[in-house]
Amino acid sequence: MIFDNLDDFFSSGIKESKRSVIRELLKLINNPEIISFAGGLPSPEAFPIKEVQEICNDLIPKEGAYMMQYGATEGDPSLRKELIKIANKAGMDAEEHNLLITTASQQALDLVTKIFINRGDPIIVGIPTYLGGLQAFRSYGADIHGVTMDKEGESSVEIEKKLIELKKAGKKVKFIYVIPDFQNPSGITMSKRRRIEILELATKHEVFVIEDSPYRDLRYRGEHEPTIHSLDKERLVIQIGTFSKIFIPGFRIGWIFAHKTIIDKLTVAKQATDLCTPAFNQRIAAEYLRRGLLDVQIEKIKKIYSAKMNLMLSEFEKNMPKGVTWTEPDGGLFLLVTVPEHIDLEKEFQKAIDRKVAYVIGSAFTHDNSRKNTMRINFSYSSPEQIKEGVKRLADMIRSLI
Ligand SMILES: Cc1ncc(COP(=O)(O)O)c(C=O)c1O
Repeated sequence: MIFDNLDDFFSSGIKESKRSVIRELLKLINNPEIISFAGGLPSPEAFPIKEVQEICNDLIPKEGAYMMQYGATEGDPSLRKELIKIANKAGMDAEEHNLLITTASQQALDLVTKIFINRGDPIIVGIPTYLGGLQAFRSYGADIHGVTMDKEGESSVEIEKKLIELKKAGKKVKFIYVIPDFQNPSGITMSKRRRIEILELATKHEVFVIEDSPYRDLRYRGEHEPTIHSLDKERLVIQIGTFSKIFIPGFRIGWIFAHKTIIDKLTVAKQATDLCTPAFNQRIAAEYLRRGLLDVQIEKIKKIYSAKMNLMLSEFEKNMPKGVTWTEPDGGLFLLVTVPEHIDLEKEFQKAIDRKVAYVIGSAFTHDNSRKNTMRINFSYSSPEQIKEGVKRLADMIRSLI
C-alpha cells in the first residue's frame, strides 16, 4: 500500500518541515472566550473597507476584464510604478529591473531560498527570528546557524565568527537573514551602527543580506534608522516588503527590491510557483496608492496600535511578577517576554489556554528550538479591555509557575 510507505515518496525538504506552530495555535484559540495575544494579525477595525469598496466600484466596470485575467509575473505595471515612486521618495536607488511583486512576503522568502539554497548550504539568522522564515529555509534544507541578539540587533561579532568558521570548514554562507525594524518576534530595532557592521561583513565575506521589513512603517516613537538597502553600495541587500501589516493581509501582495540579476532569477522561480500574483488585488492596491490613501491609512493604524502598545506595556508593568522581563519596542506588533529559566512555556501552554489567554511560544522562533522560557505577545489585535484582562490572566499564570 502506497500510504504505508509514504516516507519513500516525500522529499527530504517536506519531511524535515513542520506545520507552523502559529497556524496550529490559531486553530486552538478559535474559542471566542480566549484572549489571544498569539497571532500577528492586524486589527480588523483598521481595514479600509469603504475605500476599497469605492475603488472596486470605480475600477471594475472599466478594467474588470484586465483585473480578472492572468497578469505579468513581474507584477501589475501600475503597482510597480507606484512602488518605485515610494522607494525613490524614501531615497532608495531602485529602477524597474530591481523590482519583483510577489504573493506577499512569505512567497518572497520562499523564492529567495529557492534560488540560493542547495541542501546543506549555510545561512545565518538571529536567535530568535521569524518563524515563517525558518519554515522557508528548512523546506529547502538550509543549514541554519543562529547568532544571539542584544538591544542593537543580531550580534555582528557572532556573525563574523560564524562566517570565518564556516569559510574555514570550506562552506559558503549564502545569506544573512535579518528583520531590522521592530523584529518579529522580539520587537527589537537594529541600530544604525549594527546595520553598517553587518553590511561591511557581508561585503568582506561576499554573502547576501536579506532585509525583511514588514513593520518598518509602523513606528510609534523615535526616529527611523536607515534601511540596510539604502546603506548598500554593492547591491548585496535583497529587501523584502509587504502590504500585509499596513494595508490588507488578505490581498497577499509583497515585493522584492534587489540587483537585476537576482530579480531575473526570482522571476523564473516565481513562474514555476504561481505564474503571477493576482492582478485584481494589485490593481486595487495601485489605485489605493495613486489616490494617496496609504499614507492616511498608515497614520490611522499607527494611532490605534501605539495606544495599544502603550497600554500593553503599562499593564505589564502593573501586573507582572518579579523575575519577568520584556522588550519595549518602538513600533511593530510584538514584544518578547522572558520568564525565569526553569519555566518551560511550551509545556505550560495548556495552562494558559485553561486560563483563556494565548501567546506564541518563543522556541518556535529559534532554529534550535531553544528559548523555551520566552513568549511572543501581540498587541495589535486585542481590544483595550482584552489587553487589560489578558495581561492579568497571563501574570496570574506566570506567578503560579514561579
Ligand atoms: C518578518 C516577517 N516576514 C514575513 C512575514 C509574512 O507576511 P506576509 O506573507 O503576509 O507578507 C511576516 C508575517 O508575520 C513577518 O513577520
